[in-house]
Amino acid sequence: MLQRNEVKVLLAGIGGDSHSVGLILLRQALQLSGYKVNYLGTQNKIEDVVACAEGLDAVLISCMDGHAHHYLRNFTRIERKDNALWYLGGNPSILPADKATQLFVEMGFRRLFLRFVSISTVISFLEEDLSQRTLSGQSAFVPNSFTDAPQVEMCLDSRIADIDHDYQRKTVLLQWRTGAAVHSLMENATFLVSRPHLAGFQKKADEEGCSLVQPRCGVADEHEQFAIFDKLAASNADVLSYQIDSLTRNNNYSEAQRAIAETRRSGQSTLNGFPLINHGVDVLRHISLQVEKPLQCRHSTKDPRLLAEICFAGGVSGFEGGPICYNLPYYKDYPVAQSINSWKYVDRLAGRYFEEFGIVIDREFFGVLTATLIPPSLAISTGLLEAALAVKQGVKSVSIGYAEQGNRIQDVAAIKVIPDIAKKFFSALDFREVQISTVFHQYMSAFPEDKQKAEQLILASSVTAALSRATRILTKTSVEATSIPTVEHNINSLHLTKKGFHIAPTVNLDDALLSSEMKLIEEETNAILDSVLNVSGGDLAQGIVKAVMCGFIDIPFSPSIHNAGRVITARDTTGAIRFLDTGSLPFPREVREFHSECIGERTRYSNIPLQRGYEIVEKDVMGVPTGEVKRWPINEKTISAYCASDQSPVSGMSENSAVIGGAL
Ligand code: 5AD
Repeated sequence: MLQRNEVKVLLAGIGGDSHSVGLILLRQALQLSGYKVNYLGTQNKIEDVVACAEGLDAVLISCMDGHAHHYLRNFTRIERKDNALWYLGGNPSILPADKATQLFVEMGFRRLFLRFVSISTVISFLEEDLSQRTLSGQSAFVPNSFTDAPQVEMCLDSRIADIDHDYQRKTVLLQWRTGAAVHSLMENATFLVSRPHLAGFQKKADEEGCSLVQPRCGVADEHEQFAIFDKLAASNADVLSYQIDSLTRNNNYSEAQRAIAETRRSGQSTLNGFPLINHGVDVLRHISLQVEKPLQCRHSTKDPRLLAEICFAGGVSGFEGGPICYNLPYYKDYPVAQSINSWKYVDRLAGRYFEEFGIVIDREFFGVLTATLIPPSLAISTGLLEAALAVKQGVKSVSIGYAEQGNRIQDVAAIKVIPDIAKKFFSALDFREVQISTVFHQYMSAFPEDKQKAEQLILASSVTAALSRATRILTKTSVEATSIPTVEHNINSLHLTKKGFHIAPTVNLDDALLSSEMKLIEEETNAILDSVLNVSGGDLAQGIVKAVMCGFIDIPFSPSIHNAGRVITARDTTGAIRFLDTGSLPFPREVREFHSECIGERTRYSNIPLQRGYEIVEKDVMGVPTGEVKRWPINEKTISAYCASDQSPVSGMSENSAVIGGAL
């Protein structure tokens, strides 16, 4: 039997997939269990993982975006010298389970976890498999791969001159063959002006005090994409958007082309979203002309410039993303200055549509970030900084996103404070006439597998959203934990959400608690914004780069090597998100003390010493997917239910989950 400290495990995410929460927790758990862990982080090529595997005992590969069948395509062709046990887990493939199983078994994986399993399940399989093996070769342990020196690129917040923008456009439009068709801004604008505009709809919704409801969708085939839009529009979705597939997000258009052809041959979508770049502007215009709803693009694309060009030319009046929110939560090594420069191009393009043609394009910032235990102040401050960069390029409508965390008072407070903080921040920067909207994302972290629990969550979430009076609400579906939703799942969520709107007026919130939470969020947000301005030397772009470097902006669970990674968050005894460690966040002493009191109370309550704070974090991350959070929203009762339990949440998994990871 091997001693754990003799066992060498390699942990790696593959392909374009950005999900890092599970990997980070698994790394902690393996290390704490005594294993030697070589952690490659996210976004590795399978060739590189194979190269690191020699002499190791186990290789655990994670893929959460459903594209493992693309990322592992060459796996069997690579010459392997290792004798390791290979595991594949997360949510590796959107292919049907039997097809995916056959594919990965043939590739030689020892264990396959097609759906969510607990960390303890993975570790117990590993122990079982290792107990049947002898110690592997004694070759040197591979060092951690995080050794790349950060690249230095200059970025400034100054407006791009039209002549420079035109010059850049020439190269951007050459990135893929569909770029040439969107060359004329005038022709694009003539089409775009005729379409429904997101900013206008948002303005009206805010004036009327009601919220717009927006589901998500995205498939490989353009006819299917249109059919989905058509059904969602008929079911009273107020805003429509497509999710871009993960190959396109990583600017891999040739692979996306191959996947489209494969989809056409097999009749089965092999992509997890809509590959717009490959389809091109005519396809998008065709779709846009047939749906009388504002369209938005949601993506996390690394270089979003060509995507924005095709979107705007095709009638899309809303575009999500920014240099922080589509970088730090998504990419392993994407220097912030470089992403600021890419997004500057997009913002200037939106700005030009306004200046030259009077068209307002809404720019939304993904305050969801890594979606896991994100405190409101980090979501809001990063969104406002990105919004400010956008306004500097001429953008006139910005939407600040925030993902529900579960404590209703905190969630309502987070949305409610945004307009006020934004107005003050923008007026200090001398910005005028910028429309500010808010976006409430129904809970974005790991969802309950149990359909009833998921539906209860969505209903209660809609009540919170309505109480917050967010301009727009992004809905989730009951199958979030298990698959990409169909149009029917989305329609069901639209109904649940409207039902939640009817319940909301019957729910009372404690005004005193709400206002003290709002005050706290405002104080923290302003502290972060001030710290950025303080180090900016008068240039916001420089301020952001430096603030990330110093950890004044620090996103929990980020996969990025450019993120400080010192901040640790957890729930207090009411379920609100607090700081277990504020890292280098520039908070006043009273704020830090408040958080440490809240966390202190939680540790005493959970009977876990602060030194083992990660156990609390793990409980909080796993509480919803394991079903230990029994009802939504989260409150004292919910927390006491899973804190009172002797069992660790990971060992509280149902038997079913273990079956999924059975030996192959
Ligand atoms: N179709 C429908 N929903 C999608 N999501 C992501 N891609 C798609 C798609 N192609 C939803 C999932 C995910 C969230 C970010 O968006 O619910 O969690």
